[in-house]
Amino acid sequence: MPVTPVLTGRWNTPRSWTLATYERTDGYRALRRALEMSPDEIIGIVKDSGLRGRGGAGFPTGMKWSFIPQGDGKPHYLVINADEGEPGTCKDAPLMMADPHSLVEGIIIASYAVRANHAFIYLRGELVHCGRRLRAAVAEAYRAGYLGRDILGSGFDLDLVVHSGAGAYICGEETALLDSLEGCRGQPRLRPPFPATHGLYSSPTVVNNVETIASVPYIIRHGVEWFRSMGRERSPGPKIYSLSGHVTRPGQYEAPMGTTLAELLEMAGGIRGGRRLKAWTPGGSSTPMLTADHLDVPLDFEGVAEAGSLLGTAAIMIMDETVDMLKVVRRLTQFYAHESCGKCTPCREGTTWMVQILTRLERGAGDAEDVDTLVDVCDNIFGRAFCALADGATSPIVSGIKFFRDEFISSTTAAASGGSASAGHNATGSAATDSAATASVAGKPDALAGAH
Ligand SMILES: Cc1cc2nc3c(=O)[nH]c(=O)nc-3n(C[C@H](O)[C@H](O)[C@H](O)COP(=O)(O)O)c2cc1C
Ligand code: SF4
Repeated sequence: MPVTPVLTGRWNTPRSWTLATYERTDGYRALRRALEMSPDEIIGIVKDSGLRGRGGAGFPTGMKWSFIPQGDGKPHYLVINADEGEPGTCKDAPLMMADPHSLVEGIIIASYAVRANHAFIYLRGELVHCGRRLRAAVAEAYRAGYLGRDILGSGFDLDLVVHSGAGAYICGEETALLDSLEGCRGQPRLRPPFPATHGLYSSPTVVNNVETIASVPYIIRHGVEWFRSMGRERSPGPKIYSLSGHVTRPGQYEAPMGTTLAELLEMAGGIRGGRRLKAWTPGGSSTPMLTADHLDVPLDFEGVAEAGSLLGTAAIMIMDETVDMLKVVRRLTQFYAHESCGKCTPCREGTTWMVQILTRLERGAGDAEDVDTLVDVCDNIFGRAFCALADGATSPIVSGIKFFRDEFISSTTAAASGGSASAGHNATGSAATDSAATASVAGKPDALAGAH
């Protein structure tokens, strides 16, 4: 399948992160064009393009921008969600490392469209190299007159601040992020009111993902038709798919929305060691797992939903036949229990119970009823907690039991028949299980080799 890289197009260019390279490769041309348009025209173009948020939920970006009230006399804010904490998700960090100016240019255009004079990049705390590179890019943009007062003589002012978080997954949830940015403990806010009217400092705020905003300059430069020529009707455009785990060449693969896992695996050299595919997440650990029966599912918002899962961030974690499913599910559930912010009972208590039950099963000390209890606890959490973290926590368990119930039950049989936990579960010797959740980035040595 021929793929023309868009978002990753500069990643292999020498010193791709510098302003000089960016300008030499058409960078900041979209901004010049945007500043000749009215803000509403830009919102119209982004709406028509069909761009949908790349942060997980797939909300239409132009529509989100249009919710910002006009003439309200309040300051408006644009906040970029660069928290990227979902296990398996590893697309925003390489994008910011390799091509930070595409994000900066997108931020300036989006801020102009929503009439924001202050923008923030909320960066995951651990991404120290990204922080250095982003701050260097922002400094370059100020010096060149793309940020600050009267940008390119347009009369538009914008200040951009890079803010590093403290490394909590929940701070990727947009309202927890806003609390954290304000200096408070990062916990989700009650909605309504929504950030569009009461966001940062209780003012109208747009929160968008890195990849979403980095897509904007290309839409402005090449137009709606061009963007819609890629992907599918309701999920158009290019997408960065992150392949990690048991795949021959893990990394970022840019392809049109709707590309299938079969096609992506072809690009990535197939399953490592010629083994068979057992399970995979289409969009990070919070999206229900799929199996080898789903290789031809179009990976866009609709296609994955029809298959019973979610596109999420298109973070595809590949698990081969050696994987111990109970171990995977227990490990992922531990992550959610650890990251639960504790604000609401179903999530705080439920995730901890689920870890206890899964650990018991893994030790071979559970019984068949435990599996039903797990499903019951998930039923009581899903849709009943304060934010989507808890829904996500149920995904590995519910999908794991749906497709691999035997493996959960067999641990109890092993115990009953005097077998050990390892006999029941680790017979396949899956030392690689935990590493399936560890993303890696391939093939971009120049751009990703540490910040300058
Ligand atoms: C627990 C949790 C963690 C999240 N983490 C991120 C994240 O790291 N990055 C991100 O862009 N969106 C994350 N989201 C989604 C955001 O709340 C929000 O929907 C997104 O930033 C909107 O941007 P978009 O419209 O461009 O997709 C998370 C949501 C939840 C519930
Ligand atoms: S669902 Fe979990 S993470 Fe979300 S508010 Fe409740 S306790 Fe916090």
